[in-house]
Amino acid sequence: MYITDKWEGKEYFKIEKFRYLEFFVGNAKQVVHFYRSAFGFEPYAYCGPETGIYTHVSYVLRNKKIFFIFTSPLNSKHIASDWIKKHGDGVRDIAFSVKDVDNCFKSAMERGAFKNEEPNVHSDKNGKYSCASIKTYGDVIHSFIDDSEYKGIWAPNYQKLNLPDIKYYDTSLVLVDHVVGNVEWDKMDYWREYYEKVFGFSTFVRFDEGDISTQYSALKSIVLRSKNWKIKLPINEPAQGLKKSQIEEYLQFNEGAGVQHIAILTDDIINSISALRKNGVEFLDIPITYYNDLKDRVGFIDEDINKLRELNILVDRDESGYLLQIFTKPMQDRPTLFLEIIQRKGSQGFGQGNFQALFESIEKAQDERGNL
Ligand code: FE2
Repeated sequence: MYITDKWEGKEYFKIEKFRYLEFFVGNAKQVVHFYRSAFGFEPYAYCGPETGIYTHVSYVLRNKKIFFIFTSPLNSKHIASDWIKKHGDGVRDIAFSVKDVDNCFKSAMERGAFKNEEPNVHSDKNGKYSCASIKTYGDVIHSFIDDSEYKGIWAPNYQKLNLPDIKYYDTSLVLVDHVVGNVEWDKMDYWREYYEKVFGFSTFVRFDEGDISTQYSALKSIVLRSKNWKIKLPINEPAQGLKKSQIEEYLQFNEGAGVQHIAILTDDIINSISALRKNGVEFLDIPITYYNDLKDRVGFIDEDINKLRELNILVDRDESGYLLQIFTKPMQDRPTLFLEIIQRKGSQGFGQGNFQALFESIEKAQDERGNL
């Protein structure tokens, strides 16, 4: 295992933050209802036939600083149709806020980025909206967005999304902490080099199969980050184990590489998980024995361990502090994308100490699907 706080990258261009995550889904209208009622997202913006767009619909939902876009194709020729046919519902675009789209795109291309879409400026009476995009693993892209000069709702061709009020418990979610990709066998270092070369990101965590394995399965993982720590992108690949690893199961059902999970930051995980559970979100079950020696493993923590046990929240400590985390079951029928809820109390880690307990739980679910 290798962990460093040292910045070893080169900031070729500044990425301010995650702007949004766009999902391609079969039926955005229904998915929107799920993310509203389960995760407390609020309707924000919409484009579709009513706004002059006849090829697809996009719903923008917001929860504090988190923006999710759910896009569904309206015909078989739209790119999302083939995408969904292959991957099922999932994350298409991990979009970044930048200052100068032209420059970022040019700079990325000069260092070998794979082009998706050239820079474009969309404008209307509310100002201008600039975007461009490059490809990454699987059929996932990174958009560069500068909407600092756009004063309308979201982007040109969007209107305010009005939906009837529904009831849910407030989930206290704050922002996107990290977005994790699963890539094919022996491709982890290939994509690490891509992020180092194209974005100048720094690799600050590395685990090999010796660090993360159970009786049956193993994985390798690295984490890349931007200089300002706002963008953290772990990448996993399968490693040889006795049986099929969870990463292989993902690759099989996603038909290739893609986004494995989105981690969402909260500043009160007990409140968040209580609310999410009441809203009907399903989380992975943790072996009850996990809590027996928790105090010995992590030392003093502010939270009541009984409460953590009741909610199945995990804890991990490193030199700089600790973190609390929990993982949902898959968000769709294919065992592909899931969400993580995380609260950081000093630690910038990813819950390495929890992988054992977590893997056992994931493998139990995998076994129930007949895929172990
Ligand atoms: Fe994570």
